[in-house]
Amino acid sequence: MHMFKMETTIMKKSILDFQEMKNSGKKVAWLTSYDFPTAQFAEKSGIDMLLVGDSMGMCVYGYTGGTLPVTMDQCIVHAEAVRRGAPNTFVMGDMPFLSYQTIPADAVRNAGRFFKEAGVDAIKLEGGRRVVNMIKAIADAGMVVCGHIGLTPQSSGQMGGFKAQGRTAESAYGLILDARTVQEAGAMFLLLEAVPPEVGEFIAEDLKIPVYGIGAGPYVDGQLLIVSDMLGFFQAFTPKFVKRYANLAEEITKAMTDYVRDVKGSKFPEDEHTYKMLEGEQENLHQMVQRMKE
Ligand code: KIV
Repeated sequence: MHMFKMETTIMKKSILDFQEMKNSGKKVAWLTSYDFPTAQFAEKSGIDMLLVGDSMGMCVYGYTGGTLPVTMDQCIVHAEAVRRGAPNTFVMGDMPFLSYQTIPADAVRNAGRFFKEAGVDAIKLEGGRRVVNMIKAIADAGMVVCGHIGLTPQSSGQMGGFKAQGRTAESAYGLILDARTVQEAGAMFLLLEAVPPEVGEFIAEDLKIPVYGIGAGPYVDGQLLIVSDMLGFFQAFTPKFVKRYANLAEEITKAMTDYVRDVKGSKFPEDEHTYKMLEGEQENLHQMVQRMKE
């Protein structure tokens, strides 16, 4: 009997696949990614989608106050790296603060940069009814847009901080109106952040487009987590909705502490970490140095 080694080629999903997954009740697993190696690991894991989130500001750059300082140029550089690491995964770029809130022309130009310069498959922007013109303009220009409502970190100042939304009937009703508006404006996905499960369930059922959640309960069409949170890499705080799958901060700190100890104790490098001179060359060098001294 012949044994065949099957090469598993990952096929990049398209908007049609994501729509089909919603229609048939299959959940989407989505993570943020900011760099080449993490994107490679994620692609190998079978992740459906990656977000190059502006959360990079807090997770990578140490902007502890929030995401507002993140620039388009930073987002492009990171999106390029993620694209290279995960060439067969659906990658979404996240529009940073003031890259789209000004006028629709800015929104189209900056969204376009993600596609032209980083080769993303979609972009995401925050806000519901108040960014309807921007969503419409970007979608009308032919780009795939994901809306993002609920807790929207770029306007967390207006919310009094990083606070769950939709906990009162009035606030939940406002989110339902936002969700419908985002869909009508031409968005092809919606992300709900930090809302009660009932609100997530209602909106996921109400909308035709896929509705994913980060802290929006189990009834939405898919889940997003911030990679630094789920790997235990981000230390400042852990939102309620995070499940930690690893504690890399501990692992990395231990590895570095061991390294420092080994260097200071002359335990590193060992023979196996050193290059050897070619046969006879040490003797030749010795003679050359002797002649130099004469
Ligand atoms: O930037 C990001 O990672 C996000 C999530 C917080 C949803 O937008």
